[in-house]
Amino acid sequence: MKQQISFDYQLFTSYEELGKVFQELLISSKTAVKLSYAPYSRFHVGAAILLSNGEIVKGGNQENASFPAGICAERVALSVASSLYPGEKVVAIAIAYINPEVGDKQEDILSPCGICRQSILETADRQQSDIQVLLSSPSGKIILVDSAHHLLPLAFSSSNL
Ligand code: THU
Repeated sequence: MKQQISFDYQLFTSYEELGKVFQELLISSKTAVKLSYAPYSRFHVGAAILLSNGEIVKGGNQENASFPAGICAERVALSVASSLYPGEKVVAIAIAYINPEVGDKQEDILSPCGICRQSILETADRQQSDIQVLLSSPSGKIILVDSAHHLLPLAFSSSNL
């Protein structure tokens, strides 16, 4: 029997089209790009997380000469959130990047890698509330996905163990 999975998302062409809170979150993710340590890929990523207490925490990708030891911005920010504010829920995560070779004209919207999707989902499952995901391009295109579950359909989780 044929089945289909699809989801709706919102596309914005400038951050002014977002509400105030998400504008601030997106700007924070762009600021977080400066926290990136990416001498190997030179692909600088920033993530900003809005918590249930209204705080915003940030992280940048951290690379290592032993490449697999590197960690994505999203998982750095998730670790910062759960370490500095244990018990506060992650409401939304915004992701931004700059590839200095292309600069802020780049139109591609960055979407989290598979491992980060898995980590965001586990956070949502653990806190028993969904997480909104705000994706962006350096040029200013934005996608808002209302549920982290949409980004990893048929996901593996603790319920499978
Ligand atoms: N990276 C992130 O930080 N987040 C993503 O969503 C995709 C990739 C990082 C990992 C690595 O440091 C660099 O970008 C190139 O893959």
